[in-house]
Amino acid sequence: MDIRVEKGKPEKYPCELLLLFSFESPERLEGPIKSVDLEWKGFISTLMKQGDFKGELFECCLSYTQGALPARRVLLTGLGKKGEFDLEKWRGAASKAGQTIRNAGIKQFAFPIRRFDDHSEAELTESFVTGFLLGIYQFNEFKTLERDKIKEIEDLILLGEKNEEVKWIGDGLKTGEIISEAVCMARDLVNGPSNQVTPTVLAEKAQQIAKDHGMGIQVLEVGQAEAMGMEAFVAVAKGSQEPGKFIILEYNKGKGLDTIALVGKGITFDSGGISIKPSENMERMKDDMSGAAAVLATLQVASKLQLPFHLVGLMPATENLPSGKAYKPGDVLKTLSGQTVEVISTDAEGRLVLSDALTYSLRYEPKAIIDLATLTGACVIALGDYVIGLLGNDESLLKRIEEASSKTGEKVWRLPLWDEYFEYLKSDVADFKNVGTRAAGTIIGAMFLSKFVEKIPWVHLDIAGPASIEKERPYIPRGGTGAGVRLLVQLLRDWKS
Ligand code: BES
Ligand code: ZN
Ligand code: ZN
Repeated sequence: MDIRVEKGKPEKYPCELLLLFSFESPERLEGPIKSVDLEWKGFISTLMKQGDFKGELFECCLSYTQGALPARRVLLTGLGKKGEFDLEKWRGAASKAGQTIRNAGIKQFAFPIRRFDDHSEAELTESFVTGFLLGIYQFNEFKTLERDKIKEIEDLILLGEKNEEVKWIGDGLKTGEIISEAVCMARDLVNGPSNQVTPTVLAEKAQQIAKDHGMGIQVLEVGQAEAMGMEAFVAVAKGSQEPGKFIILEYNKGKGLDTIALVGKGITFDSGGISIKPSENMERMKDDMSGAAAVLATLQVASKLQLPFHLVGLMPATENLPSGKAYKPGDVLKTLSGQTVEVISTDAEGRLVLSDALTYSLRYEPKAIIDLATLTGACVIALGDYVIGLLGNDESLLKRIEEASSKTGEKVWRLPLWDEYFEYLKSDVADFKNVGTRAAGTIIGAMFLSKFVEKIPWVHLDIAGPASIEKERPYIPRGGTGAGVRLLVQLLRDWKS
């Protein structure tokens, strides 16, 4: 799809459809909707007076202009009560409008952007483009039947009135497109089935990104990881015929910038291994690489926005399967850190592969380590599929994440990491077990990870719930969501070191 900015007045602009927004029952019309209403002999005012369009949140009303305007149609979309407006609602409204236009089979539309409240043109444009592009995302790669029925919007023209507006809108458009493109890439990887998105494919994707953006890349084979002492990662990888890959992607390497390590769980399919999962819903476990997908996407954005950091993305990628070579409950593994782990459940594989990746990240002397993982079913029970579980060892890093979260609408909720929880992980035969109790499962998972970050500021994002969803949300369709990408990007954009 092509999105571009042009200078022009909405009431004079010829297009298939003109998109306009309104708050609920406004005292008077203002801005673009007002000038269109005047040109249209009060048609919009009439609609509103008669109650055919009230401006309620996400309400959509499509009208034909019958030659009264150069635009063939007008879509009015409601923003809800003015006092309750925020950018999250704005993204949702952009998405609802986009979905309505696409579903009607309309291929081109124009939208005049004007600043309002405290929001600048650039900010409104970025959020509009983000909500719109994320809302109309669809995953059709494997649909072969009736492909001609797939509807897609081809052109969007953003209208500014003054030259400087056109520039600001252009800036917001660029940022919004870069971020949305990356989120959609992460969604594609999550939605891709495990027979397509293998560890090898993840590594190839990382290699492609490295090549396109001049990043450093290293892909360790299982044999190399074994020689280095990553027994935890290797134990999980051994059970599968599909070769595991330990992926290291580096942006802004060797430039003397502050280092941040991003670690993403890359289990391309989690059967549970010998501690096999019930078969009901097991197909969902193709999403167990959502953390790795989010790391890849974040590095791509960082590069395109030229964010001033040295970022190291670490993605231990493997399947978790039962086989004659699979690791077993009771096995003791020596992790890269030297600490030993007694395996209680082979289904707690995420923390094992992450433990070696966290230890590996220490060699870069990072200022902060952030890991993203679909780590525990307990997190879904605790917080549902709407919220990311947030745990960590550093108050100021936790606060930064919460601030970024409030801007992007990717909700996070803190859980405690008190030392007492470590009691549950004590083992008779090794330094600790990989599983404690069912109770406090998310905290105990994070407690395990905390043993591998030494004193470095670290946060763990448990994205087990939001990584893929069953019920769509305003700008997040069903399936893989790209959870964590916008959150991390916002964190990095706002980071003033
Ligand atoms: N990938 C799962 C976690 C998960 C479960 C994500 C449901 C999304 C939805 C993880 O590897 C796992 O199986 N965790 C176990 C840990 C337990 C054995 C301590 C779990 O949550 O049951
Ligand atoms: Zn598991
Ligand atoms: Zn898993």
